[in-house]
Amino acid sequence: MNIIVHEESKQFHLYNDYISYIMYVQPNGELGQLYFGKKIHDRDNFNHLVNYFLMPVTPYYDEKTFFSLEKNRQEYPSFGTGDFGTSAFKIVDKDGSGVSCFKYKAHSITPSKKKLPGLPATYADEGEALSLEIELTDEISKVSLFLTYSVFKDYPVITRSARFVNTGTEDIVLDKALSLCLDLPDSNYEWLQFSGAWARERHIVTKRLDDGITAVGSRRGHSGANENPFVIIKRPETDENIGEAIGCSLIYSGNFIAQAESDADGKLRLLTGINPDTFSWILKSEECFVTPEAVLAWSDKGLNGLSQAFHALYNNHLVRGKWKNKERPILLNNWEATFMDFTEDSILKIASKAKEAGAELFVLDDGWFGARDDDTRGLGDWIENPAKLPGGIKGLSEKIEAMGLKFGFWIEPEMVNPDSDLYRAHPDWAFSIPGRDKTLSRHQMVLDYSRPEVVDHIHDMLYNVIKDAKVSYIKWDMNRSITECLSRGVTSKEQGMVYHRYILGVYSLYERLISEFPDILFESCASGGGRFDAGMLYYAPQAWCSDNTDGEDRIFIQYGTSYGYPVSSMGAHVSAVPNQQTGRTVPISMRGNVAMFGAFGYELDLNHISDEEFETVKRQIEFVKEHRKLLQYGTFYRLRSPFDAAQAAWMVVSQDKKEALLAVYTMRAVVNRMPGYLKLRGLDPDFKYECNGKTYCGDELMQMGIPMKDECISGYSISYDGSSAVVVFKAE
Ligand code: DGJ
Repeated sequence: MNIIVHEESKQFHLYNDYISYIMYVQPNGELGQLYFGKKIHDRDNFNHLVNYFLMPVTPYYDEKTFFSLEKNRQEYPSFGTGDFGTSAFKIVDKDGSGVSCFKYKAHSITPSKKKLPGLPATYADEGEALSLEIELTDEISKVSLFLTYSVFKDYPVITRSARFVNTGTEDIVLDKALSLCLDLPDSNYEWLQFSGAWARERHIVTKRLDDGITAVGSRRGHSGANENPFVIIKRPETDENIGEAIGCSLIYSGNFIAQAESDADGKLRLLTGINPDTFSWILKSEECFVTPEAVLAWSDKGLNGLSQAFHALYNNHLVRGKWKNKERPILLNNWEATFMDFTEDSILKIASKAKEAGAELFVLDDGWFGARDDDTRGLGDWIENPAKLPGGIKGLSEKIEAMGLKFGFWIEPEMVNPDSDLYRAHPDWAFSIPGRDKTLSRHQMVLDYSRPEVVDHIHDMLYNVIKDAKVSYIKWDMNRSITECLSRGVTSKEQGMVYHRYILGVYSLYERLISEFPDILFESCASGGGRFDAGMLYYAPQAWCSDNTDGEDRIFIQYGTSYGYPVSSMGAHVSAVPNQQTGRTVPISMRGNVAMFGAFGYELDLNHISDEEFETVKRQIEFVKEHRKLLQYGTFYRLRSPFDAAQAAWMVVSQDKKEALLAVYTMRAVVNRMPGYLKLRGLDPDFKYECNGKTYCGDELMQMGIPMKDECISGYSISYDGSSAVVVFKAE
């Protein structure tokens, strides 16, 4: 890993063993992009890569040399001085022009990585990453711009963020401040986005990039189930195992945009950052604005290689605290078992059966506080309901711990029901616009977390519940998007700052609770996977994947999620059948075999299943305990996509390649067709692997594949609808 600065040619080359990232100071003083991809040799001058062409109807910065911004690739493009693509930022100057030009001033290199104030970001110790900060200034608007880049020693990854500082005496308005722009020389890529909706999150959508703009984004106040702040561009020939791909992930949980724009010269511009549609930031004299961090990863080992880079980076350099790289407790959550209709006794019966099955943690979901007997009331009143919990959370947690289980519970701290004491006392704490209709969603409103006093109040209520109880886990839910976004805490001119301030408020409460209760494992949730993003992982190491717990649908959801996020981050539970969302009856074996590739648990009353199923549950829990490290932290390979076939497969391999787990799921049987072979990945070609009494060579398993006959996949039937198998390969 190194950062070379060629002082004379003013070129910057960041590289490690995998990638190079090269940029330069252009003739007009702005930064230009020269190269991102596989590591290349350094040289004193890459100037031959710059385009000096006389082209028709082109605006030239310099008509003698024919240097044009439009014909060259920009690093953080402004608008209005000759580049006509989408800009990375927009400053409305006092003259009202919206035109700026940031010229290189200085740079500095640090041997690790600095924190981003109030924002989630990857972190690194000295020796693990190097950072370059480039300072640029616009003399007219009196603004300094700092572009920060980090290159990690062990990952094919560059992280970026931007910081604006108002050095003048008057306010300026930042109407757009994206985190990343990457201009590439050609557009021969396909675009992958992870789209969906509630209960079908992160399904893969692939598009061929063509002239013009392809984009995803959110204006919901949270990243959302419909789109995800993670996209991939890949060469058309790239598959899971070979070929080039670039992944772009925004470490942010609010309104975002990710966009690819292909221009008439065939160049491609990739952008991501806070969604400018809902953003306008007033920067007072001497204030600074820091954008969220964006991560760029590169792979020539196909999409599996790209995903593995994100998984390893996030496990080692984003997730923090006690739960970093730790096996996650096997839990039982009562939501789908009882909804809000429970008493302490009924909860203890469910927990006791979970203990008998081998679970390690019991989670009490929604309904324990205020007048919360249904979803029309109580949100915001974080005081236990004595009719349900006579001893409160403290009393219940002690009883659960006495059983030998850890205890956790559910909160939804960003919300309020109009029918609650909190709303009656502080109606102006919820987003709404006086005189306009109030849009409700699940009968609730969103609290104005851009106001510190609101965050403080909720903090104090939660703190009182947690402080004396035995709490090991908290599920932090968020069940509606923001509408009527008007804050009573700021002036009318400052309303464009509210969405971003809201999410900063959410992050600040997380940060406070994490530092006060460092042992608690947080799981984020937003009506299932409506805020499954890298920003959340900085605070909550795992996220509830989806409210759809159907064993088959979950294959799609977890498969799609795996492109950008590690297995350890995916909350995945076995629930009752027929499934509450799909009505489908998937065998308990399949439900377990899918959920175990995640932060594993159950979400049903185990008292209500047959003895035979209960024995299966016990075996599943035993299996997960035995293989948990490998299931949650092994190198993950997608083998067969449910989006392409009626059968899906994936596997995990230990770091030393001595152990692997293969999972095969048949959603829909194909009758009277030879089962074929499945090529495994990531094994050592020279090892011999034992699997259920049979021996295979690593190279044979990867080159030829394992025969998909039932007797090879460990004697389980994988030929019928809903059949599945998880099999162990051990090097001899
Ligand atoms: C939505 C979550 O996704 C569910 O798991 C559950 O916690 C409910 N909210 C509770 O209201």
